[in-house]
Amino acid sequence: MSLFSSVPEQVTVYEVGPRDGLQNEARLVPTADKIAMINALSRTGLRYIEITSFVNPKWIPQLADASDVARGIDRVPGVTYSCLVPNRKGLEGALAAGMREVAIFLSASETHNRKNVNKSIDQTLQAFAEVVGPAREAGVRVRAYVSTVYGCPYEGPVEVDRVVELAEKLRALGCYQISLGDTIGVATPRQVEQVLMRVFSVCPRQEVAVHFHDTRGTALANILCALQLGISTIDSALGGLGGCPYAPGASGNVATEDVVYMLHGMGIHTGVSLEALVDCSRQVSAWVGHELPSKYLRAHLGEAARTARLGLRPGTA
Ligand code: HMG
Ligand code: MG
Repeated sequence: MSLFSSVPEQVTVYEVGPRDGLQNEARLVPTADKIAMINALSRTGLRYIEITSFVNPKWIPQLADASDVARGIDRVPGVTYSCLVPNRKGLEGALAAGMREVAIFLSASETHNRKNVNKSIDQTLQAFAEVVGPAREAGVRVRAYVSTVYGCPYEGPVEVDRVVELAEKLRALGCYQISLGDTIGVATPRQVEQVLMRVFSVCPRQEVAVHFHDTRGTALANILCALQLGISTIDSALGGLGGCPYAPGASGNVATEDVVYMLHGMGIHTGVSLEALVDCSRQVSAWVGHELPSKYLRAHLGEAARTARLGLRPGTA
């Protein structure tokens, strides 16, 4: 029997770079560049792009232009554009700007939740009741994130029971998908198996997504484990941008290029063009003013530079 017999033939890569990536950048990226980034991502074959957050701009100034970004992008048929909304006010902003999918978010650990949204977990769930119902009545789908699933920067280990309980409540509220966040990048594959197997008892695996930050280099190993358990939606950020402003030291999301490279190498379809992603990353790297951590991107750019320097045929450097 193959180790990969349960791996899906097709995987949805859920791009969170414009939101999770840019929320953590020291340099404020101009609105026009964000729009250009999202428009370029829309032409890579990605089908889901999380473009911004309708949150308090005092808390996340990097995304203070949420409404202008949402109104300014080209909406490519077949691409779903989503955004974070923490409460009713966020939903109203998102709907007014034409969003047709939104995502709510909370943490499995109390301290991180309070730092992130200034509320207890119970208060946050109450606020969600004012988001999910009205969103669905407006024909807008709601995704949900559970953060700090594998560990909290303030409390350390997190009980799996807590994660399962929240996944069940979010599903009961009417969220179509639950994305399980390794906010600080501490997860390892056996832990991923333990968490996912428990979550599957309250939420079918087709409705579960994985969201790994790559702080300790375990994201791809964790994704492989999730694939073997039948997960078919993987969150990632272009170039490996990202982090959580309320999780000190957390690094970027797993890079979209690295995920797509691995999936394609395994014969899994994504519909995404790796070449188009690389073109996008080069541009975004200039806009944010630093190199992006994606390993595939660095290998590709290094090879291209060697090829040019040595006058070789592409692919031989
Ligand atoms: P608060 O300050 O407690 O809100 O913020 P409040 O209800 O007390 O209101 C205070 C002010 O905020 C008022 O304005 C409200 O109008 C305003 P004022 O009267 O002072 O001028 N306000 C808003 N403004 C714009 N949009 C809104 C909104 N709501 C209230 N939606 C709030 C509560 C949740 C808004 C705040 O804590 C906040 O914005 N937090 C940001 C959290 C965030 O975006 N964190 C990063 C994303 S989560 C993440 O990265 C993890 C994830 O990637 C998964 C993973 O990796 O694990 C998803
Ligand atoms: Mg994140």
